[in-house]
Amino acid sequence: TFVVTENCIRCKYTDCVDVCPTDCFHEGPNFLVINPETCIDCSLCVAECPADAIYDEKDLPEDQQHFLQLNAELSQVWPVIDATSAPLPEAETWVDQPDKMQYLER
Ligand code: SF4
Ligand code: F3S
Repeated sequence: TFVVTENCIRCKYTDCVDVCPTDCFHEGPNFLVINPETCIDCSLCVAECPADAIYDEKDLPEDQQHFLQLNAELSQVWPVIDATSAPLPEAETWVDQPDKMQYLER
């Protein structure tokens, strides 16, 4: 499966959503996750993310491993998002900032 990681937090560009053939993305207040039960590993979303936040689980950086479980967990709770929309207003400020996990809203 593919996994959304920390750099999406407070950005939520949503460019990833339109290319997904199986509507895998689920939306929270300031982060998206991928549902591992619907992801077909097409990899199309990876290149779309301006924050480079999406990884194949096999390539997850060491410090992002916990996002595998978090995507699985939150995709059971959050609603599906099936169309790209505007990024969060301060996305450009927050992209590539370190330690954004503390800002995750559920
Ligand atoms: Fe959707 Fe493909 Fe990305 Fe999985 S890898 S979330 S199926 S676009
Ligand atoms: Fe997040 Fe990147 Fe999609 S910032 S919403 S994973 S395009």
